[in-house]
Amino acid sequence: MRNVITYDGVDFAYHKDEYVLKKVAFSVEQGEKLAIMGPNGAGKTTLFKLAVGLIKPLSGKVSVLGIDVTKKENLKKIRQKVGYLFQNPDDQIFATTVWEDVAFGPRNLGLNEEEVREAVEAALKEVLMENYGKNSPFHLSEGQKKRVAIAGLLAMEPEILLLDEPTSDLDIPTAKTFLEKISELNRKGVTVLMATHHIFFAKKWAQECIVLNNGSIIYQGDSKEAFKKEEVVKVIGDPDYFL
Ligand SMILES: Nc1ncnc2c1ncn2[C@@H]1O[C@H](COP(=O)(O)OP(=O)(O)OP(=O)(O)O)[C@@H](O)[C@H]1O
Ligand SMILES: [Mg+2]
Repeated sequence: MRNVITYDGVDFAYHKDEYVLKKVAFSVEQGEKLAIMGPNGAGKTTLFKLAVGLIKPLSGKVSVLGIDVTKKENLKKIRQKVGYLFQNPDDQIFATTVWEDVAFGPRNLGLNEEEVREAVEAALKEVLMENYGKNSPFHLSEGQKKRVAIAGLLAMEPEILLLDEPTSDLDIPTAKTFLEKISELNRKGVTVLMATHHIFFAKKWAQECIVLNNGSIIYQGDSKEAFKKEEVVKVIGDPDYFL
């Protein structure tokens, strides 16, 4: 299997000398289903922002699909192949109607209007938002906004999905349906990275996981084995506690 994402000795700081990622190194193979966990402020969102070139590493390298993301000329190509779900849907949605918002991705890929219509309708159906096409995306509930942001990604058919807290604000049946959909895409070869605090979903859903704490990887490996480690449970909790 080929590596589709590689972080190679990555350091990052938003403010001088305040490192939020320290010597982070890992790679993700095509077709992997990877959960990224860690407490608030651990650096999960920062990792994703690096992968789509929103920020650049201070040192080290990040490459996606073999392409160096620190080079500005490569960003368009990467963003066509990588679907990035922002943690906060308000950072993602922008159009005046739900329909137009979801249509942005497929239009950007150069699909014709008939193909765009098909992609948008199918994606809105997947997230049970087919009756909201004409609504303003800003006048929705938080979970509905998240559903629209997810539909935007599904309409693009990306090769890689970077999902930042995709299940937060979703009702549990919708979260379940969404994770099943993502698994179906994964079976077709889509690589999926999911940053999440929903450790019960992560344990069941992901094969592999990475646990970050204070900008460093403290565990990498099988996601069920992770919760047998005291140092992991101490920082991200025990998914069985509420059962
Ligand atoms: N735009 C920013 N400017 C300055 N510092 C930031 C910025 N964004 C994040 N940080 C800091 O970087 C660190 C890592 O933040 P990040 O958002 O990557 O954490 P996270 O693991 O995604 O947390 P959460 O679980 O709360 O989403 C935190 O200490 C945070 O305060
Ligand atoms: Mg975050």
